[in-house]
Amino acid sequence: MKHDANAPVAVLDSGLGGLTVLLELIRLMPEENYIYYGDAANAPYGEKCVEQVRALTLERAELLLEELSAKALVVACNTATSAAIEQLRQKYPDQPVIGIEPALKPAALSGAHPRVLVLATPVTLRENKFQRLLKSYESEAEVLPLPCPGLVEMIEKGILEGPELEALLKNLLREALSPPPDAVVLGCTHYPLVQRSIRKVIGSPVEIFQGGPGTARETGRRLEEAGLRRKDGKGRLEFRSSDEMGSWIPLAEKLFRSAMEQLSD
Ligand code: DGL
Repeated sequence: MKHDANAPVAVLDSGLGGLTVLLELIRLMPEENYIYYGDAANAPYGEKCVEQVRALTLERAELLLEELSAKALVVACNTATSAAIEQLRQKYPDQPVIGIEPALKPAALSGAHPRVLVLATPVTLRENKFQRLLKSYESEAEVLPLPCPGLVEMIEKGILEGPELEALLKNLLREALSPPPDAVVLGCTHYPLVQRSIRKVIGSPVEIFQGGPGTARETGRRLEEAGLRRKDGKGRLEFRSSDEMGSWIPLAEKLFRSAMEQLSD
């Protein structure tokens, strides 16, 4: 199908996490139309088997690119990118398909052999894509990959601060803080939504890296290259979800507004 610049850019995540990427996309390209899709009925992806994540991602991509005629797909989920980006690019060779990966490169190069903590889902850290990334930078830094089971579920409930979240973070980070890291990579798009609490639990000054800004820039480049950039006006934003009857969409809209504040910290 031939696309024009007015067709929307689809942004896909298992739930609320991709909002942190959507935010960067809108900051960079406010003229574009966007459809944000949260597969909330199937979140979390990061604790499923990789085949299941791949099948869900391909199915959602079909809806967005074929039925809803999006001109490009941003896979705003590290887990879904690890599981399905190659298959998506094979299936849609003529459309921009952009993935996200943990921002290990800038973190590893941020100091003289820094100690870098990489927080991500179990699937992301297990998959080959991250293992290859790790190999590329392990001589530059001391890298500690740390899976964070349970964190996405809590964020999906709308818990972004408070004692319950801090107790979970303390438990997850317990063995990773002595000695304290120099840099933290938020390798799951949900985690920037709770970065204030992550900083609080870490307790010492630490530089935080996330993949959203780089993914937004790459999306801009790919749209330009394909002649698909919408240049004028203010774009529309539509939220969709596999949890259409539930409370997910109002929660996503509310978080989208508050994420704007937190990300500018
Ligand atoms: N936001 C997704 C990511 O970046 C994963 C969340 C999930 O486990 O569903 O990895």
